[in-house]
Amino acid sequence: MIVTIDGPAGTGKSTVARTLASRLGFEFLNTGAMYRAIAYACLQRDIELTDADSVADLTRRAEISFVNNRLILDDLDVTEAIQGQIVTQGASVVAANSLVRVHLVELQRAAAQGKNLVSEGRDQGSVVFPHAECKFFLTASPAERARRRQAELQAKGQVVPWADLYRDQETRDQRDESRTCSPLKPALDASIVDSTLMTVEDVVTYFQQIVLQRIKIWTGRFVCPSRMAFLSGRGMRTRADDTNARDSTSPTGKRKSTSPHDVQRAYLPSELTTSPLRGDPRFHCRTWSTRE
Ligand code: DC
Repeated sequence: MIVTIDGPAGTGKSTVARTLASRLGFEFLNTGAMYRAIAYACLQRDIELTDADSVADLTRRAEISFVNNRLILDDLDVTEAIQGQIVTQGASVVAANSLVRVHLVELQRAAAQGKNLVSEGRDQGSVVFPHAECKFFLTASPAERARRRQAELQAKGQVVPWADLYRDQETRDQRDESRTCSPLKPALDASIVDSTLMTVEDVVTYFQQIVLQRIKIWTGRFVCPSRMAFLSGRGMRTRADDTNARDSTSPTGKRKSTSPHDVQRAYLPSELTTSPLRGDPRFHCRTWSTRE
């Protein structure tokens, strides 16, 4: 099962994704760290970040892996080194390079093979894992995001004015949203959650509830399909309906098998595709913006 968490910087995505993965016993993939690693490697080698071909070439040669959630770049642990302000700005420049994206997306898909995974980034639900079972788009007001970043840096002993962070964040948002290749935007089937007034614990609990519901549905399908039909409000399904959900016919007339994701979608009750806390005023689902 794949759970994707996308959204702009400073929404708490990484903390939420890591905590959620640990509670579910899933693996965690921090894709932002991969773009950061490429920016870091370029800066180390004096490669111009806007030199698309050189950056792409370096990306293909770089060895990136995660060991215990630490990022290893060419045998070196760079987890802390990629958190600095210069790398942060550089990462959004290399992330706009489509050649870099193609390669990193390949690595991300390979990392997910056969795993239960919570993956966070900007394009995980929209591009990398379009068939993910659970997609979230986490947002928060720009002022709050800059405040969180300031607190995070302060905890590491770095004092940076809020206005500077706010301005840098605006630049990055603008770059992430306006690039032609995989711009920052929610997948059409993502739940959009505004975390401005929420704690990390609130968000994790909420996401966990949704994921567990989906798992229940997914496993329950095999136990009793007619119960699923009842839940979906589409009336009783026949055995033929079930077969059709699993196998479909391609335009060429050949039968092709449908992925488990398609089967799951066919059974997913629409009321569970949105929040069980739908009436809660803290959740402003269905709209988002990186501007105040
Ligand atoms: O989430 P982060 O701040 O660590 O991400 C670093 C940069 O990489 C940020 O500018 C957005 C970009 N990014 C991306 O374009 N696609 C992803 N899947 C993850 C991050």
